[in-house]
Amino acid sequence: MNAPTAPLPPAPLDGLRQRFSGRLLTEDVDTAPFLTDWRKRYTGRALAVAQPDTAADVAAIVRWCAEHRVPLVPQGGNTGMVGGATPDASGSALVLSLARMNRIRDIDTVNNTATVEAGVILANLQQAARDAGRLFPLSLAAEGSCTVGGNLSTNAGGVQVLRYGNTRELCLGLEVVTPAGEVWNGLRGLRKDNTGYDLKDLFIGAEGTLGVITAATMKLYPLPAAQVTALAAVPDPHAALRLLMLAQQRLAASLTAFELISDYCMGLVERHLPANRRPLAEASPYYVLLESSDFESEAHARERFEALLGEAMESGEVTDAAIAGSIAQSRAFWAIREGIPEAQALEGRNIKHDISVPISSIGRFIDETNAAIERDFPGVRLVVFGHLGDGNLHYNVSPAPGVSPEAFLAHESAINHITYEAVAAHRGSISAEHGLGQLKPDENVHYKSPLEIGLMRSIKAALDPQGIMNPGKVLPA
Ligand code: FAD
Ligand code: MLT
Ligand code: ZN
Repeated sequence: MNAPTAPLPPAPLDGLRQRFSGRLLTEDVDTAPFLTDWRKRYTGRALAVAQPDTAADVAAIVRWCAEHRVPLVPQGGNTGMVGGATPDASGSALVLSLARMNRIRDIDTVNNTATVEAGVILANLQQAARDAGRLFPLSLAAEGSCTVGGNLSTNAGGVQVLRYGNTRELCLGLEVVTPAGEVWNGLRGLRKDNTGYDLKDLFIGAEGTLGVITAATMKLYPLPAAQVTALAAVPDPHAALRLLMLAQQRLAASLTAFELISDYCMGLVERHLPANRRPLAEASPYYVLLESSDFESEAHARERFEALLGEAMESGEVTDAAIAGSIAQSRAFWAIREGIPEAQALEGRNIKHDISVPISSIGRFIDETNAAIERDFPGVRLVVFGHLGDGNLHYNVSPAPGVSPEAFLAHESAINHITYEAVAAHRGSISAEHGLGQLKPDENVHYKSPLEIGLMRSIKAALDPQGIMNPGKVLPA
């Protein structure tokens, strides 16, 4: 890769202010919320925070950054888990917040697409789709504040991937400002288009290192007639996997969510978010939250779900289960699952892993990695939950009782090493859905082949020869 060109001395921001409409925040009190990540793991500094109104504004800002060789850090809702939207400590970067670019440009119910600006909050897109009688299926606990641009840039997963796919699968077209400040209008709503390299796929999951996504055309789906949610107690992850196979057999494409929750996670939510109550009387080592979406009726959905759970209880995969009797109860089940990240943050510092392995390996991965970590770090708490139906676990580790966060975090690389070696042994990924940000570029270089890293560097150098787009993220600085 070309070495990034050395920055010029700081440019007068006045020149920037005149180039675009929207806001330029320069006072510490205004910029502070943009400089620390959701987990409060990273705090950086910045020249300023620019909040443009249009793609033309973004292009003007990027051209200014290119002229002055100012690094640019795009930011959506700032809910990312790997510090991708946080600038470094040098204070030389400009944060580009897409928050004001929040218009829904078009909903086409015949083509089943929505064209939206990058700063649209995910929940607002879901609601706009519902208002048009359609489903936008991307769903995650941060949906009230994350943005479509951030979802695309991290290729976010969430809780309905097993039916509808990751954000990449939900995108048909993009509008992007390149690192040279040109606007590429690729907002095509086509299901078929084989006209060469698929450029949009380069920008999706690039975490702002190749350009700025300013708008996107996303797929919409029919709204289900009914959804049924259940919480099932299972003795271990192996039984959860057998339940997954049975549920896929019996419900096929109606199975839209299949989430694993360990009893430790259930306890965390109960302790820190006490409005949530355990739905089942007896504790169990693990639980599965599963949901089906039905296109006939509520009665049909319930009948199939009851039959599935009855069969699983008879064969011993499930030891107890509760089917939500109302929308409010279903929300209460989901609040437990979606409260885990917040409850874990309230509990204190922890080491986060977002791994994937082939679904068939998940049970063995948990057994082997638990044993290896417990052997070397007796007493640590294993916080295991996630998207079992996608082979994606949040395999997090919290300090043993009485151990200070500082003493615990001193072991972070050793705990990462155990976890990622186990991931590699199962031919898995060290980042299933959160991306690499500034947390994992070095580990990615370690676990990917030199050829893959070399190709990634070639792409970066071809699109961003000055290295101004979110430097130090995805690839090591
Ligand atoms: P940000 O955090 O602002 O940015 C993320 C990255 O994208 C950064 O590298 C940034 O530079 C880049 N970026 C942002 N906007 C643009 C743009 N317009 N153009 C170019 N680059 C851009 N993630 C999942 O995948 N699945 C989950 O289930 C999930 N659950 C979560 C639950 C909670 C409670 C929280 C706090 C987070 C969760 N996340 C999850 C992580 C996070 O919400 C997602 O990564 C989300 O997609 C980030 O969107 P954002 O708008 O907040 O992006
Ligand atoms: C989740 O599935 O809850 C998220 O990806 C967030 C997390 O891992 O903490
Ligand atoms: Zn997740």
